[in-house]
Amino acid sequence: MCGIVGYIGTRKAQDVLVNSLKRLEYRGYDSAGIATLDDENNPHLARSVGKIVELEHVLEPKPHTGHLGIGHTRWATHGGVTVNNAHPHNAGNVFLVHNGIIENYKELKAELKAYDFKSDTDTEVLAALIDSFYKDGTPLKDAVASALKKVRGTYGIAVFSPLEPGQIIVARLGSPLIIGLGDGEVIIASDASALLGYTREAIYLNDGELAVCTNKGAEVFNLNLKHINHTAETIEGDVDQIQKGGYDHFLLKEIMEQATTLHNTLSGRIDPKNGTMHLGGPNLTAKEIADIRHVVIVGCGTAYYAGLLASYYMEQLVPDLTTEVVIASEYRYRSFHLPKNSVALIVSQSGETADTLACLREIKKRGVKTLGIVNVVGSTIAREVDGGTYVHAGPEISVASTKAFTAQVVTMLMFAGMLAESHGGNPQLIHEFTNELAILPEEIEKTLKTHQETMHELAKKYAGFNDALYLGRDTAYPIALEGALKLKEVSYVHAEGYASGELKHGPIALVDETFFEVFNILDNWLFDKSIGGLHEVRARGGKAIVLTDSQREIDADDVIRINSPIKHLAPILLNTLQQLFAYYVAVEKGNDVDQPRNLAKSVTVE
Ligand code: G6P
Repeated sequence: MCGIVGYIGTRKAQDVLVNSLKRLEYRGYDSAGIATLDDENNPHLARSVGKIVELEHVLEPKPHTGHLGIGHTRWATHGGVTVNNAHPHNAGNVFLVHNGIIENYKELKAELKAYDFKSDTDTEVLAALIDSFYKDGTPLKDAVASALKKVRGTYGIAVFSPLEPGQIIVARLGSPLIIGLGDGEVIIASDASALLGYTREAIYLNDGELAVCTNKGAEVFNLNLKHINHTAETIEGDVDQIQKGGYDHFLLKEIMEQATTLHNTLSGRIDPKNGTMHLGGPNLTAKEIADIRHVVIVGCGTAYYAGLLASYYMEQLVPDLTTEVVIASEYRYRSFHLPKNSVALIVSQSGETADTLACLREIKKRGVKTLGIVNVVGSTIAREVDGGTYVHAGPEISVASTKAFTAQVVTMLMFAGMLAESHGGNPQLIHEFTNELAILPEEIEKTLKTHQETMHELAKKYAGFNDALYLGRDTAYPIALEGALKLKEVSYVHAEGYASGELKHGPIALVDETFFEVFNILDNWLFDKSIGGLHEVRARGGKAIVLTDSQREIDADDVIRINSPIKHLAPILLNTLQQLFAYYVAVEKGNDVDQPRNLAKSVTVE
């Protein structure tokens, strides 16, 4: 969702801005633009609807030559997808890019009668508001601070003016802003991945802060313009990690690299010899761990499904624990009560999801300890939780989440293992889980390699269908939900996930020869019940694909079997097959696999 970049230095600003905007494409956007100052301090603006390549077409006949500028990828919230609504916006002497939402923009607009607004956006109103304070020699920094004090809502902004060349003012409230410090240059971005390749040193602005950036560095202030000391931090990751590495799409790369990323997730955290798991990040004392009786897991989308699967494992492992898994957009507004000795796991790949962040704040208000299960290092959620653990999946670029799901489940499982040891969990069971975790990367690798082509062929066979049901029981149920989500996200096929046992309570009415069903069937004590559901569907003409770890006889249209010593974690392996299936259906349909329509990677607005 919306991305901000900015540059001051010796390089051609256009090149850095366009390159950095490309790095942010994965977040999802519908239009883009840049504004620069040339060396005579004349401003230039270029905007376009569609992909960055369209912006490059606009720039081609008249390239920008200056060394300072700001850029933006927009994901429409106020006003349609048009060039006029695209950022940067200009009012008077102010050029502005903005992420977030100005809630009181209508009231402010009514007061700013002197301005002739050209767009329907809240951002243009903010540009005009800043310009209205930017009079009579007032420094731009002061005008920005005065304007922001009148604003209700959220923002990450970058602003410049031709009247004060050589500086960009940035500020944040609820929307990330990172200032990369290079040698004689500063690169600004809303996402650290845009800075990679330019610098590793960065200042992460906090809410309520504003900074004046020049080619020499950045000075940080609060909105009362009191100076704030900030130390630079080191950005993790490298450029290779955010490139496709020979794959056609990021989605396929991220599916296929799960074995490698999982090694990073597990590294130093499991001890298969002694059958133990340990996470350092939660920062809990032995007594605090022993006292936990209730775990609430919060997330959106795939992160929520990861939490759901982890909760099944937690119940199996920790004898005296109650778990609850909640959807952040609902929970934030519920009158929820958490018992004493609760801990909240805040699950988020991006660490920026607005609803998840709001839940975190609601939970903290109730005095409950919050732990982050987060991928993006330095993200807002990671900064605001009381403790937590990075899942170390590396940059996930494709909008549809895959490797982060696996890493989230595994990280929460290790948290469960740690609780289990302290709560008198069955040592043999803990040992079994630990052993499975130790071999999970290679089993994922094997599963993906063995079945990549099979899933491709299967996708060709089913790509023409418009409807699908994904079914599963017990730990295969969250996987069914995630499988359906993955298919609908990237292939636009209508897919629903259901608990197999619910089939006869409604969804079976849908089943006929135009539907296909994906059964995730585990070779466990519920095998026969799962097969029962399969027969019910087949009897009504439904086409059935079975994904299973069982070698028993199964009668279905297509049966894909994994052959692995892994038992408890088999749903994770089955899920990788679903990931491949969704990917190849999307490819067959010619969709924009990495940036599916209407979706954003990081949903920073409600
Ligand atoms: C968006 C993404 C999903 C993701 C969800 C939660 O909807 O498209 O892939 O699962 O947000 O994101 P988070 O970054 O909090 O895990």
